[in-house]
Amino acid sequence: MDDTRQILHLTDCHLLADREGKLHGWSVAAAFECVLAHALDRYPETDAIVLGGDLVDDESDAGYHWLNDVLATTARPVLAIAGNHDDPQAMARRLDSAVVHDQLCLGGWRLIGLCSHRPGHEDGLIGSAALHDLEARLAADRSPTLVCVHHPPFAVGSAWIDAMGLNDGPALRAVLARHAHVRGVLAGHVHQASQHRLEHSLGWTTPATMRQFLPGSPDFAEDPTRPPGYRWLALEADGRITTTVHRCPMVQGPERRGTD
Ligand SMILES: [Fe+2]
Repeated sequence: MDDTRQILHLTDCHLLADREGKLHGWSVAAAFECVLAHALDRYPETDAIVLGGDLVDDESDAGYHWLNDVLATTARPVLAIAGNHDDPQAMARRLDSAVVHDQLCLGGWRLIGLCSHRPGHEDGLIGSAALHDLEARLAADRSPTLVCVHHPPFAVGSAWIDAMGLNDGPALRAVLARHAHVRGVLAGHVHQASQHRLEHSLGWTTPATMRQFLPGSPDFAEDPTRPPGYRWLALEADGRITTTVHRCPMVQGPERRGTD
């Protein structure tokens, strides 16, 4: 039982250079800090944190610098991956409190972070070289593995955001299907919680730490009813994963104009 490792997945923070700055009415820095504090308070035994991309919306060094300072205060290993709203080079330069696009070993588990950032595009691409590298790494080590990527390699049922998904998602799925020790795929990007059965594993998405998107909507729509949140995962020694999504209604969202 003590061999279980607990991780937190926080994603789509959309931070800005200006810590007081707002995006779509959200005080994004305060929202991120509130979600992180809530998560660590609820799960003080957390072993590691995964940041699922779209970390700094304006791709500013100042935004990553501030995020790095916050991560350092958690005193936990952090795996960070880039989203479409990120600068992977700035992340690697500035986030020295995190492992960026590499792997993290936790007990008997391995977490692998993939970069799906495609410069100038909303959709994602891992690329054949990175997929080849992934295949080699999975073949070389059969530890239970959790793959972390910003763009989910599966559709969530919202046509508008599924259209800006992972271009080589089928190729990634084919790699994962050849390695049954990959137990899960953890993704962000869609600002909503979901769970999917893949070939030999499960796939999850996690709510953003700021605004939410409406599940099942064919066109862009915010979801004003669901607060920001995060995902907790327990990685069991026998390779099973238990996971729960938590919402943080105390996070201050934009003021809504009354329509009644
Ligand atoms: Fe994204």
